[in-house]
Amino acid sequence: MAQRVRGVIAPGKGEPVRIETIVVPDPGPGEAVVRVQACGVCHTDLHYREGGINDEFPFLLGHEASGVVESVGEGVTEVAPGDFVILNWRAVCGQCRACRRGRPWYCFNTHNARQKMTLEDGTELSPALGIGAFADKTLVAAGQCTKVDPAASPGAAGLLGCGVMAGFGAAINTGGVTRGDSVAVIGCGGVGNAAVMGARLAGAAKVIAVDIDDNKLATARRLGATHTVNSRAQDPVEAIRELTDGNGADVVIEAVGRPETYKQAFYARDLAGTVVLVGVPTPQMKLELPLLDVFGRGGALKSSWYGDCLPSRDFPMLIDLYLQGRLDLDAFVSETITLDGVEAAFDKMAKGEVLRSVVLL
Ligand code: APR
Ligand code: ZN
Ligand code: ZN
Repeated sequence: MAQRVRGVIAPGKGEPVRIETIVVPDPGPGEAVVRVQACGVCHTDLHYREGGINDEFPFLLGHEASGVVESVGEGVTEVAPGDFVILNWRAVCGQCRACRRGRPWYCFNTHNARQKMTLEDGTELSPALGIGAFADKTLVAAGQCTKVDPAASPGAAGLLGCGVMAGFGAAINTGGVTRGDSVAVIGCGGVGNAAVMGARLAGAAKVIAVDIDDNKLATARRLGATHTVNSRAQDPVEAIRELTDGNGADVVIEAVGRPETYKQAFYARDLAGTVVLVGVPTPQMKLELPLLDVFGRGGALKSSWYGDCLPSRDFPMLIDLYLQGRLDLDAFVSETITLDGVEAAFDKMAKGEVLRSVVLL
């Protein structure tokens, strides 16, 4: 029988979010209902509320979540009721041209639950990134559930579902950071600081954190940055070159999503180095670069979707490292809040006061 639970919805463009009763159907074939335990507040939730993603209001917000599978529909074999899972927003299809070539992290045909959650009057909800986890329970595709060790704290585990995975993967998957590399990370919010942590874990010799906010740089230092640069006080390109014998870094990760910081990343890398763009730009932004520099500097200019992660491969591995004390996911949990605190958490996020506010259910 369909269940009625609390959920945080964005009713219309720019309107404050509010808690409503939502109707969660029983899982159909290939679907699962998850009892949410924790869900982080991410920029993308705010972008949905502001109408920056699409106009399919009302949205059921929340997508960085962990929880316990409550029930599964017909044909589901990968998870079972009682499993502790992290939700992912790229359930791979196994059949598209990327999957068939053995590169499922690029899957071009990811999927979500087929049935819709609704308001009590039957209005269909659009779940953020196909998840919608600022709710006691949510309906997802079973492939969006990745089973991990239940010893992990739900708040920390849930963060792997989006921003932390994106930053971590930008370093280790997309950037291919390895032992001895010099790495610079421009923008050290939740995503950039996860890239700092990833670079350190991969064995980078130098990890240079760049931000305009000294508090973010202090966190970067705690998570493994060997050097910090406040780019309000210092030209970051010059500073990164100075710290790398005049050469530039092997891998530069742009975790802001702006043309000016992308240019800094482009010029702060060594010849034949790699730039990874994980910050998400807006549709209006344009990039202008001398084409001769693009050619002459060589190397690779890459984008990182969700850290090019494969949830089934990366989530359990990262949770194991976390449980061994080698990955400080707890450092990203700035505060824990309840469902009614999401609007206030957006304010704190906009002011740069938190890495992540996490709703505990
Ligand atoms: N130079 C350096 N750092 C900057 C600049 C700049 N010009 N402008 C902003 N920053 C810093 C901010 O001070 C902040 O620490 O970038 C960081 C951005 O962090 P958050 O706002 O917390 O965002 P985060 O969640 O880390 O996401 C970063 O990745 O997934 C995308 O949509 C997301 O584009 C966003 C980016
Ligand atoms: Zn997110
Ligand atoms: Zn696919």
